[in-house]
Amino acid sequence: MIPHTITADLVKKYTDIRQYSEKICAPLEIEDYVVQPIVDVSPPKWHLGHTTWFFETFILIPNFPDYKVFDAQYNFVFNSYYETIGTRVIRTDRGNLSRPSVSDIYRYRKYVDQQMEIFLQSEFMTETVESLLELGLNHEQQHQELLITDIKYILGHNPLFPAYINDGKTEKHNFEDRKMIEFSEGIYEIGFMDNGFCFDNELGRHKVYLNDFEIASQLVTNKEYLEFMEDGGYQNFKYWHAEGWDWVKQNAAKSPLYWHMIDGKWMNYTLNGLQEVDLHAAACHINFYEASAFASWKGMRLPTEEEWEAASEHFEWGSRWEWTNSAYLPYPGFKKEAGAVGEYNGKFMVNQMVLRGASEATPNGHSRNTYRNFFQTNLKWQFTGIRLAQ
Ligand SMILES: [Fe+2]
Repeated sequence: MIPHTITADLVKKYTDIRQYSEKICAPLEIEDYVVQPIVDVSPPKWHLGHTTWFFETFILIPNFPDYKVFDAQYNFVFNSYYETIGTRVIRTDRGNLSRPSVSDIYRYRKYVDQQMEIFLQSEFMTETVESLLELGLNHEQQHQELLITDIKYILGHNPLFPAYINDGKTEKHNFEDRKMIEFSEGIYEIGFMDNGFCFDNELGRHKVYLNDFEIASQLVTNKEYLEFMEDGGYQNFKYWHAEGWDWVKQNAAKSPLYWHMIDGKWMNYTLNGLQEVDLHAAACHINFYEASAFASWKGMRLPTEEEWEAASEHFEWGSRWEWTNSAYLPYPGFKKEAGAVGEYNGKFMVNQMVLRGASEATPNGHSRNTYRNFFQTNLKWQFTGIRLAQ
């Protein structure tokens, strides 16, 4: 059993993180909770249910003998991709579920939270469960970022362009004096080393040999990205991978996501509603194809994830997920954990690219320079940007 002072901290941490998910959803109207405009964007109510299901399925059911399942049918609705746990609603159908209702899901959250608070202070709370709890909390934080990006997509693809918030927030601009930081060839160590939490894909600290490289101190701005657009970047195949060029043609791509040419001006949908594109802000909602094409147009390239990590203490990061030129692959010695949680990361290590850093949508306390995010090359609904290297 874990000492009382630690369980009190865990209860507070659990409560704070769980409440933040609901705070993100507080500005929503009921209708906003339900829709799924594209396969990658899940309905907000599904995120709220799925994160709750995670604690119920991986902590309460196997470890709390007196626990009574809230609703046995929810396993089918809120299981995301865990084959070990059984069949589930197909991903494209998440937005077709009018039930369970939003209020049912909030009742589900309340029930599981009450049971978790009792459990965390019970004799059944062991150190083994503590690592599952950490995973559950970090999982909820990942979904908090997805809630923000999915809400932005839902509202930003509504013809009324409703604002999510009206906080008048303006970005911090510090992108004027970009320089290239030089690193010498040699052996660098990559991977998680500290005592705190990390995902399994960061483990296996290992040495890599890097050639001389230079990496930009700042991200690419909207002004530079607009220069690429105006210089025919989207019209010239020579900057693009073959797959990227196919994507440009099939989608008639011509700008970052959320940009709209209105009355001769580029406008940008932000969480504060439609605004003129801020030329000094870091370019955002760019996919891997676009990031690579931009770098090629500049006569440069994207950094590898190893270069990014080795250099990360020498530049500011955290406003955009930064595309790297590294495929998402296991580190040397990577082992899938036993059981369902072994499905968390390892099975996605094919056909995706690594992103490093964090974004303005990442919850506080959920970033570190060894964190490996990953997405498919065509996706641009995350807060993704570009850092150049050569
Ligand atoms: Fe999940």
